[in-house]
Amino acid sequence: MLNISKMNSYYGESNIIRDLDLNVENGKICCLIGRNGVGKSTTLKSIMGLVKTPSGSIQLDGKELIKMPTYDRVKCGIGYVPQGREIFPQMTVQENINLGLQPIGGKGTVPDYIYDLFPVLPKFAKRKGGDLSGGQQQQLAIARALVAKPKILILDEPTEGIQPSIIEDIGVAIRKVNKELGITVLIVEQYLQFVLGISDYIYVMEKGEIVMQGNTSDLSAEEVQKKMTE
Ligand SMILES: Nc1ncnc2c1ncn2[C@@H]1O[C@H](COP(=O)(O)OP(=O)(O)O)[C@@H](O)[C@H]1O
Ligand SMILES: [Mg+2]
Repeated sequence: MLNISKMNSYYGESNIIRDLDLNVENGKICCLIGRNGVGKSTTLKSIMGLVKTPSGSIQLDGKELIKMPTYDRVKCGIGYVPQGREIFPQMTVQENINLGLQPIGGKGTVPDYIYDLFPVLPKFAKRKGGDLSGGQQQQLAIARALVAKPKILILDEPTEGIQPSIIEDIGVAIRKVNKELGITVLIVEQYLQFVLGISDYIYVMEKGEIVMQGNTSDLSAEEVQKKMTE
């Protein structure tokens, strides 16, 4: 489904991601894990066309994206939930959700499954986004990314700054998105327990390179943890 090969990413002259190969299989939940500053967000921004990627390939179902503007990548079927959620605090919950219609021409309606997945959102439809809790804002950001019915949903640290009981809710929602809506998922995380509980496949990143990968059921949690702390 999503196939990245030999991709390089730069901020100015610094080569942050080096010759990255990463594949997300159709229908799976894949996680990219690693410590702070190793290049996880840069990888997702590269997929979205938000940083310079002068070489390599990023294909979605065989279609080359690497030279496409961000807007067209969204149209091709990528839903993106950035780190820190980036909802609009002064806009209402409903207005934030409706923004997800922009990539498909601003027309149409928000599909009902969004409200089934996150029942708190219709309840707070008229509240300002900024008045929601961190967990609710995360749900709002995921909802916004799902409005355009993406083929793949990519999430940057969805558990960051969220209390444990709500992390569980978010995990349940992501699993439903995957199993019930059939949407492939790529999650960037630092929280290993969450990753072990939700993923089919794990990539571990260090300094812009993959240092370990495998099916979640085949990997040793201790080995992954060691890579995260050494
Ligand atoms: N806008 C930017 N300009 C220059 N360097 C950046 C920028 N954003 C991130 N970096 C650097 O790129 C590296 C990877 O950052 P990032 O992808 O955000 O890491 P992670 O998401 O794994 O914490 C870090 O060394 C960081 O300092
Ligand atoms: Mg990050």
